[in-house]
Amino acid sequence: RAEALLDGVRILMTAGPTREPVDPVRFLGNRSSGRMGYALAEALATLGAKVALVTGPTALPSPPVAELVRVESALEMHAAVMGRAPQCDIFIGAAAVADYRPVDPAVRKIKKDAGELTIQLVRNPDILAEVAALRPGPFTVGFAAETDRVIDYARGKLEKKGLDLIAANQVGGERGGFEREDNALTVLWDGGARELPMMSKTRLARELAALIAERYGDRHAA
Ligand code: C5P
Repeated sequence: RAEALLDGVRILMTAGPTREPVDPVRFLGNRSSGRMGYALAEALATLGAKVALVTGPTALPSPPVAELVRVESALEMHAAVMGRAPQCDIFIGAAAVADYRPVDPAVRKIKKDAGELTIQLVRNPDILAEVAALRPGPFTVGFAAETDRVIDYARGKLEKKGLDLIAANQVGGERGGFEREDNALTVLWDGGARELPMMSKTRLARELAALIAERYGDRHAA
């Protein structure tokens, strides 16, 4: 039965963008809508998984998951994930986490006194890589949004971050994945690959959920 594929499996996921505070009223953000992650969370729950979703701010209705944790910044997302990661079987990083944050957000609103303003940025933790490095750790799934050489970069990321599965898509241009209703993915793992052609994010999420269940099941049967 398809519905029972992930019965009782504990899945921790991230989705949506992060907001990196500049001052009390401003942030650095990105164009992630959260749609793919939310659709995937719902599809996994439909397969019987117990899903905890850590999400950045989105305009979407709450998906039907066991636990929904709302965060804003990458540091908040990191804390919410690392506190829960030891208790999950599968971790999926679908969030568009900001790579950098302002070093020292201003306590008061920045005034437009000067003609130029420099904001110094510092690297954020790589949440997915940290979870993938846990021993014992969950089965880890990442996303790679690339503008070019999609497969090469995704394969590199799979190895460098030590992931079990990576879903890669092209962003920008005609096939762009952000802010769109449909998407296509190439899913890679050690020794295999599968193309999920252009379709609605809802259908794509179901196909990806089934593939995650299949790869996770394989791993555990091995
Ligand atoms: O390295 P890159 O940002 O392209 O990797 C994308 C993957 O890593 C996504 O799965 C994303 O959710 C995850 N990620 C993360 N923490 C970061 C940056 C990316 O979890 N700071």
